[in-house]
Amino acid sequence: MKILAVEDNPADVEILRELLDPQGSAFELQNAKTLAAAWGILSKGETEFILIDLGLPDSQGIATLREVRARYPSHPIVVLTGFDDEETGMLALNEGAQDYLVKGQITGLSLVRSIRYAHERNRIEQELVRKNSALDAANKELTATDRELREKNEKLIAAYEDLTAVHEELRQVNDELISYNFQLTALNEKLTVAQGKLRQYLEELTKSEQDLKRSEASLKEALAEKEILLSEIHHRVKNNLAAFISLLSLEGSSEDTPAGRMLRQDLQNRARSMALIHETLYRTKTFDQVNMETYMRTLLDQIAQTFRTKKPVMTSVDAKGIMLDIPRATPAGLIINELVTNSFKYAFPESFDCLAVRHAPPTISLALTRNEGAYMLIVRDNGVGLPSEIDLSKTKTLGLKLVNFLARHQMHAKVEVNTTNGTEFVFRLQ
Ligand SMILES: Nc1ncnc2c1ncn2[C@@H]1O[C@H](COP(=O)(O)OP(=O)(O)OP(=O)(O)O)[C@@H](O)[C@H]1O
Ligand SMILES: [Mg+2]
Repeated sequence: MKILAVEDNPADVEILRELLDPQGSAFELQNAKTLAAAWGILSKGETEFILIDLGLPDSQGIATLREVRARYPSHPIVVLTGFDDEETGMLALNEGAQDYLVKGQITGLSLVRSIRYAHERNRIEQELVRKNSALDAANKELTATDRELREKNEKLIAAYEDLTAVHEELRQVNDELISYNFQLTALNEKLTVAQGKLRQYLEELTKSEQDLKRSEASLKEALAEKEILLSEIHHRVKNNLAAFISLLSLEGSSEDTPAGRMLRQDLQNRARSMALIHETLYRTKTFDQVNMETYMRTLLDQIAQTFRTKKPVMTSVDAKGIMLDIPRATPAGLIINELVTNSFKYAFPESFDCLAVRHAPPTISLALTRNEGAYMLIVRDNGVGLPSEIDLSKTKTLGLKLVNFLARHQMHAKVEVNTTNGTEFVFRLQ
């Protein structure tokens, strides 16, 4: 053990050396005569034990101990005191010295024992300090851990509170869901009922539709049958009239005098005008409306045909797109037949120079127009003109009598006669 004796008295140092000598190499004694010298030795770090005399040339009394303790707190220190200075020894113990030895009373045994005990006590003390600081550290760690735990606990509590709130919300949502589910179930039941009704209506509708389709089909069938029948009737009427016209042509059917021939031709023409109505209906497949343009054109051509031996006369028809029902078309046809026949017969005699008088070639024209539901029929020629003595309402001759009768009683028309530039008959149908 390396011992430093801080002692300015060489005699005392010598005594210490002698007292320790019997221990052989167990103790190695060094000496510093001043505190300054002690610092130099201690700074090397080899000294394990300090023996110190408090009365030094550069430091006196308990202050010396305090200074050494301040610089080297872990070194064991034993203080050397004077003969009757027990008080300083006690003070030294209070200031951290391990022991004190009274100079002059020190024996080898007491010195060694004091050194060893002091050394051991110091070691135990140091150990205690070390353990204490370890405990302190552990305590600090524990405190920190405790704080952490407390914080974590607080967080857990907060999290728990949050969870409780969320749980409460979830419970409410769940309640709402249950209530919605309830309502949905009720609605669903209503829907099922409505769906059932709808299906029933649909079935009924389908059935009605099928019935309708069936009735429509039978109606169409009936209509087609009716049309066939009508077409057949018109065809037969036309054929019967044709047979009648042929009969009139048979030799011996009437007197073969010029007057007889004329009468026969008139009758034939009248029958033809009626037959033509039925033929037009049959051909155009419209059984209640007569296409007047087609009809008037054909009728005029037919009449012209019977007068082809006479000098040529121009003809014109204007009745674009006009349709008339049979009750009005038939008298109109007969009227046209009478008047056009008259025009061919009387309007252009050999003596009449049409071009010179009318500044136009001989012309017979027909016009049927419609204005806001009212029809107007005009039959005109640019010939010599109707004799002035003829009055349509009083005439005895059959042709004009027939015209007057048909116009008033069958066509319900007002008649107007103009003879300024030939002969013009105007019929205004109601
Ligand atoms: N467009 C005409 N132009 C000139 N004279 C006409 C014209 N239409 C008729 N007349 C004259 O009026 C007369 C009377 O005509 P109406 O048609 O009534 O008899 P009809 O032709 O003589 O005989 P029916 O017509 O019975 O065969 C004719 O005889 C003719 O002299
Ligand atoms: Mg006539």
